Amino acid sequence: MAIVQAMAILKIARMGHPVLKQVAAPVGDPKSAEIGQLIQDMIDTLADAAGAGLAAPQVHIPLRLVMFHVPAARAREEDGEAAEGCPFTVLINPEIEALSEDMVEGVEACLSLPDLAGMVPRYSHIRYRGFDHRGETVEREAEGFHARVVQHECDHLDGILYPMRMADLSTLTFTSEISRAREAELDEAEEEAENAENG
Ligand code: NI
Repeated sequence: MAIVQAMAILKIARMGHPVLKQVAAPVGDPKSAEIGQLIQDMIDTLADAAGAGLAAPQVHIPLRLVMFHVPAARAREEDGEAAEGCPFTVLINPEIEALSEDMVEGVEACLSLPDLAGMVPRYSHIRYRGFDHRGETVEREAEGFHARVVQHECDHLDGILYPMRMADLSTLTFTSEISRAREAELDEAEEEAENAENG
């Protein structure tokens, strides 16, 4: 009889929980059964939450392990038609190096701060390395949204949440207010167009 492994959706720690404030410890053996199980559970959790990335401290495990993906459509939306995105990646004991001093502002959200978003400056061009779930070395250069996601996830390993990186806290917003403001803008534009037609 086959043993079916149940899918596990882990509880996500929210801002204020001590596990999100600490510096996470390096993973000893990326190929261990425990890490394999953690990765599987985090994949299920990330899929359930429909996020771009997840770091182990967000599921109450203070280890240096993150996962992320950038679908091509999302990358094009953020960075234009030439952007390629990034396949689903597990990164263990990651290191990031900025390849340029250039910082760009962009909107970020986080599963540990539900329903909020804010403008965060990040390095526009980075190199990152670490190990994947098979213990193989991953080394990539990343730009734009891909670089942003990696910097956001790796910050979780050092107890940093995106509001701590924001240059202007007045941009911190409930996502429902962003859609409400967008609707109001559209209504206003429609009204203006009507008024213009009416002379
Ligand atoms: Ni996050």
